[in-house]
Amino acid sequence: MKPVKVGICGLGTVGGGTFNVLKRNAEEIARRAGRGIEVAQIATRHPNSKCDTGSTPITVDIFDIVNNPEIDIVVELIGGYTVAKQLVLKAIENGKHVVTANKALIAVHGNEIFAKAREKGVIVAFEASVAGGIPVIKAIREGLAGNRINWLAGIINGTGNFILTEMREKGRTFEDVLKEAQELGYAEADPTFDVEGIDAAHKLTILASIAFGIPLQFDKAYTEGIARLTTADVNYAEALGYRIKHLGVARRTEAGIELRVHPTLIPADRLIANVNGVMNAVMVNGDAVGSTLYYGAGAGMEPTASAVVADVVDVTRALTTDPNNRVPHLAFQPDSLSDHPILPITACESAYYLRIQAKDHPGVLAQVATILSERGINIESIMQKEAEVQDGLVPVILVTHRVVEQRIDDAIAALERLDDVVDKVVRIRVEQLN
Ligand code: HSE
Repeated sequence: MKPVKVGICGLGTVGGGTFNVLKRNAEEIARRAGRGIEVAQIATRHPNSKCDTGSTPITVDIFDIVNNPEIDIVVELIGGYTVAKQLVLKAIENGKHVVTANKALIAVHGNEIFAKAREKGVIVAFEASVAGGIPVIKAIREGLAGNRINWLAGIINGTGNFILTEMREKGRTFEDVLKEAQELGYAEADPTFDVEGIDAAHKLTILASIAFGIPLQFDKAYTEGIARLTTADVNYAEALGYRIKHLGVARRTEAGIELRVHPTLIPADRLIANVNGVMNAVMVNGDAVGSTLYYGAGAGMEPTASAVVADVVDVTRALTTDPNNRVPHLAFQPDSLSDHPILPITACESAYYLRIQAKDHPGVLAQVATILSERGINIESIMQKEAEVQDGLVPVILVTHRVVEQRIDDAIAALERLDDVVDKVVRIRVEQLN
């Protein structure tokens, strides 16, 4: 059978890795796909020193790839929302299948892109868009298809996890670790996407859609970054038996779906609390299977290429199938997507870690306890660091039971009005993940 012809748009970290993996494992890949897979053309403005493209035709214009009649599968690895969207829509219009690692594009424009792809009977595959090399989209969309998914929670930004790990284990500064993540090719072009949780929210949006069968709704995700975390909170969390991770959480409740990315205290003995460096992990809880955990490299040249190439193989296998019988883009049939609403963060439920900087007076703890109890907030543990009294101020650290966020907001506002409380109250959400 004739080989399938692939065009690669973008020869950066992931593009270079994809070319190398397709070339190095060509024979093994052909045995899996049932036919050869050949890179027919590459679009790039800059050569990649880690990638020997040999005699493969190169163009500087990405649109040459989508207009090349020889090409069956367009691999979009340029990133961003604007040109990438034009490129993907043009590829679809020209009847080409698309493989992309672009989470921003899928999370923000996926509904429109999938509708166009359905019209044209082509596949848009996006495994590499979430958690790099971990085949978590395939696991949820296909492997867990018999389950009603209850919740999922993941460390889905390698850069952020790398920063938190290096800060905690080696005491390195935030800026220093971020620079290294950029040099290693983990960070986004705009690294605020990593540290402010936008990249994780893109990925969480995609996971939630395929888990619950809802349209992609990135604009409704709650996002909070890691830049304001302090070493003091990392250490207090440890003392209470927790680790702080930047977590994406999607949970189905009767009222709606929680979709939130924020720093989170997790019990230190959970497997996911021990996922370090650039590694990612996603826990998925289904009613039949219980809790499952998917772990692996969440960014980097060949781990991400692994997912891109798997999609190219999947598309190759499906080329001759009836478009109506393919795995739906968002796991559920497009006319069966649900309109279950995404909840605002104030309606989400979690436990909370609070750090209150209080004057070291008799009765302060009683006032704190009163404010919490008046709002029905149950305290699970409390720690007052007398040894750390400075300028007559003492940190009071407590962990609450689960409660709706609006009540904690009210309590924090009341605490901050107390004469004996100085500074803003630090609040970090806590998830037991059991
Ligand atoms: N910047 C992303 C991360 C790359 O650090 O996880 C992989 O999506």
